[in-house]
Amino acid sequence: MLRPRRQSRLRPRPADPVMNDALQQTPGTVYLVGAGPGDPGLLTLRARDCLLQADAVVYDALVNADLLTLYAPSAEHVYAGKRSGRHVLPQADIQTLLLELSGRCRHIVRLKGGDPLVFGRGGEEAAFLRAHGIPYEIVPGVTAGVGASAAAGIPITHRGIARGVTFLTGHREADGTLSLGLDDVPKRGTLVFYMGVGSLPALIELVLASGRAPETPAAVIESGTCPGQRVLASTVGEIVALASQSQVHPPALLVVGDVVALREHLL
Ligand SMILES: C[S@@+](CC[C@H](N)C(=O)[O-])C[C@H]1O[C@@H](n2cnc3c(N)ncnc32)[C@H](O)[C@@H]1O
Repeated sequence: MLRPRRQSRLRPRPADPVMNDALQQTPGTVYLVGAGPGDPGLLTLRARDCLLQADAVVYDALVNADLLTLYAPSAEHVYAGKRSGRHVLPQADIQTLLLELSGRCRHIVRLKGGDPLVFGRGGEEAAFLRAHGIPYEIVPGVTAGVGASAAAGIPITHRGIARGVTFLTGHREADGTLSLGLDDVPKRGTLVFYMGVGSLPALIELVLASGRAPETPAAVIESGTCPGQRVLASTVGEIVALASQSQVHPPALLVVGDVVALREHLL
């Protein structure tokens, strides 16, 4: 539900030139907005309001571009890229851009896939804005681990089967090694790995080393909630071969745990 106090902060742009001059003395507000996992219907009402008021939108690769056409057609659009480690704009340049935009726009939307603070570097951007005295607001979104799993019919927690869920990153360091270690992988509950397509064999090795059996159900969800959604359901022991045969492409998640098997009963 929208909170009126917050909504009132999104005021219409004033037409009065004197007022406009006054506003230029103060920096514009940056809204760090989560766009959800892909389906435009999963955008929150708050996020939609931010887009409707935006003078400029800086957006990432995983954002559904229909959102810009639908809700911010006349705003300035800046593509910031970021897909599988290839950055169109380096993070430092994105932050400098936000600073520059706040000097000449009232409402700047920094639109990120999923939730801005889940593997999205939104925390770094918020800290940067704060350090530079730029007003900002964080607008949560539906993270892929929740939205895509639900769309795939996988309840990431389920009474009697999984008491918890852990979100992990399959991100690799510059030398190709996983940033995760054994200590990061709990022995129980559901595991959801983001950014895992290129790292799938190494992630599965880690899952096995953490003590999970090869028969444990596992699934890869590609383009969850989007028209091209694909769900490959198998086991820890066989998911690498299945993903390779099926030529999985990012964005995709790896979900590991007994809850994956419930899919058959829910769809
Ligand atoms: C840089 S992370 C951003 C995560 C995002 N902030 C969130 O909360 O969902 C990108 C990774 O999220 C996952 N992802 C994002 N959208 C997805 C989707 N529609 N289906 C499956 N995985 C997705 C993929 O693992 C992708 O590599």
